[in-house]
Amino acid sequence: MTDQTPQTSTLRLDASPAAIHQAADLLRAGGTVAFPTETVYGLGADATNGRAVAKIYEAKGRPRFNPLIAHSADADHALALGVFNSDAHALAAAFWPGPLTLVVPTARNCPVSELARAGLESIGLRVPDHPIAQALLRACGRPVCAPSANLSGHVSATTAAHVLADLDGRIDAIIDGGAASVGVESSIVACLDDEPRLLRAGGVAREKLERVLGRALTAPAAAADTVIAPGMLSSHYAPRAQVRLNATRIEPGEAALLFGPALPGAGDARAVVNLSPSADLPEAAANLFAALRGLDQSGAAIIAVAPIPAYGLGEAIRDRLARAAVRE
Ligand code: TXA
Ligand code: MG
Repeated sequence: MTDQTPQTSTLRLDASPAAIHQAADLLRAGGTVAFPTETVYGLGADATNGRAVAKIYEAKGRPRFNPLIAHSADADHALALGVFNSDAHALAAAFWPGPLTLVVPTARNCPVSELARAGLESIGLRVPDHPIAQALLRACGRPVCAPSANLSGHVSATTAAHVLADLDGRIDAIIDGGAASVGVESSIVACLDDEPRLLRAGGVAREKLERVLGRALTAPAAAADTVIAPGMLSSHYAPRAQVRLNATRIEPGEAALLFGPALPGAGDARAVVNLSPSADLPEAAANLFAALRGLDQSGAAIIAVAPIPAYGLGEAIRDRLARAAVRE
């Protein structure tokens, strides 16, 4: 990552058809465009253009070894980029378009650049379920690789304002499409052999994936596993403040991240956000990253987090919070 003053300003686009075509032209010309998906905002570049892909790594200050997900407008396009076994076919049929990324062997004639795949023989594929993302991908006509649109190591961005807080001046354009509805990134399942593996818990709950597969997914790779899921660095989502998990009371001066009923001491907190007063996990997922950013900005040294249940989208929320709690 460089600390140079930005040279250019980032073009703000709305979601009109003309703006989406302008964004698609920028992508085809090798530019970087942030756009909304149903999970989080993505920072897109033409996946077939290695120089364009390099701009993503540069803008994010991202380690080079981290492979990017290639996004397609529909399942047919995605299916042509990889080699799908029966598990991968079943998951694609059930959850695309949607918040699921499949890691499969790369198809022989796959046009996605080696840099986007970080030199791996596998490829991460996703068909987002968001009208603006789909319109952009269709207009672009090429696979678009897109990591979450945040500086490396920061929390993912769920609004255009959050993207710009990290990347203004570092990227060519952004399409403002309002808040992302799911709020956590896609689930990532690797279908590389007979044993499908959950590499990242995300927007499709494990139970739903397993129902389609008809069997259990192997446990997520350990956070330190740099071979299978290089992006899963343990401190990937760290805010500045220290994060204290499974708090049962809030100490004076702490910021409080609640779920369901208020905790004792919350009245004396420096700042309080309740992810979902009614203890609804999808609502909590949608609010998670904005809540972490807001509490971090309160200046509190510690963000105390209420216990989150381990089922459904709770698995993804707990995973992101555990990473946020890791200090480098
Ligand atoms: O919801 C999402 O998936 C968002 C939106 C924008 O689509 N994207 C996203 O991308 O979260 P990113 O780059 O922040 O996270 C992608 C993860 C990384 O941890 C990366 O290592 C992993 O996917 N990944 C990508 N290709 C892979 C591959 N071939 N093998 C293993 N892991 C892979
Ligand atoms: Mg990310």
